Amino acid sequence: MENDGRKTIVITGGSDGIGYAAARALVKAGQNVILVGRNPEKTARVANELGVPYHLADYSRLSDVVRLAGELNAYDRIDVLANNAGGAQRERKLTDDGFERTFQINLLAQFLLTRLLLDKLAASNATVIQTASIAANLFGADFDPADPESENGYTSFRAYGRAKLCDILFTRELQRRYGDRGLCAVAFEPGVVRTNFGSEAGRFVRFCYHTPLKYLFTISPEKSARRLTRLALGAPGADFTPGEVYSFKKLLRLKFRDADGSAAASLWDACEARLTPWL
Ligand SMILES: NC(=O)c1ccc[n+]([C@@H]2O[C@H](COP(=O)([O-])OP(=O)(O)OC[C@H]3O[C@@H](n4cnc5c(N)ncnc54)[C@H](OP(=O)(O)O)[C@@H]3O)[C@@H](O)[C@H]2O)c1
Repeated sequence: MENDGRKTIVITGGSDGIGYAAARALVKAGQNVILVGRNPEKTARVANELGVPYHLADYSRLSDVVRLAGELNAYDRIDVLANNAGGAQRERKLTDDGFERTFQINLLAQFLLTRLLLDKLAASNATVIQTASIAANLFGADFDPADPESENGYTSFRAYGRAKLCDILFTRELQRRYGDRGLCAVAFEPGVVRTNFGSEAGRFVRFCYHTPLKYLFTISPEKSARRLTRLALGAPGADFTPGEVYSFKKLLRLKFRDADGSAAASLWDACEARLTPWL
């Protein structure tokens, strides 16, 4: 059971944008929030403002994720893990760990964190939330499970869309493998949101998100964060269906065609194989 009806909610990418707005709303709602950010000064400032504990990790370094998992495992329980950190990258580059950067930041690091917290999450009957994206449908529908790191046909948009589709497949498979241990997985697409998103992406994305043009087509982080807080505070089965991906309160229909239904399982295996040295 949660402590005094308060949930312990870990939010990655909590130092800015949607994660920051969700953290603010959840603190206001009386929940115990644990903030995870990348930028030390920004994360400390936000955590101090909200009066919550914080941790740091740069997802382009998997050793950071292992350390983070160790720190989070020291908490008594985790009722919600919101895997929200992420973003688009300008060009195809490998991290020092040897993986395509967009794939590592948006999926592999989150996969690793979740895997290293599994016992705690299961013991807490936790909800694990992935922040996906409509980009999964717009640019990721051609995802090839045999090429998860976009060695073929890389563009910034495609790699991002495919990585966000991977978040959705990961959600499905996490639910399938660990749902009967009490854990619940769910994903959502947050809308097109005026945040710091795109600051590491190509010129076009930066033009869309970082000029007054953004007011034409974006929603506020506060409005978007309601999609996350609804899942964080909701009851699995009653307020949302485990293993699914939501566009606000509606299920998102995926354009990705998984002909033999094996994509989620093979992606899981591909992640485990890549992450063996860190697991
Ligand atoms: N904005 C949109 O329109 C939109 C649409 C669909 C999906 N999303 C997704 O929503 C999530 C939140 O993004 P946002 O829009 O709130 O963007 P944001 O304002 O740029 O916030 C991104 C957050 O993720 C953290 N982060 C970024 N790269 C990281 C890395 N390599 N390692 C660890 N943390 C990292 C940032 O940490 P620091 O600030 O401390 O560096 C920040 O807290 C992301 O997964 C994004 O892909 C956004």
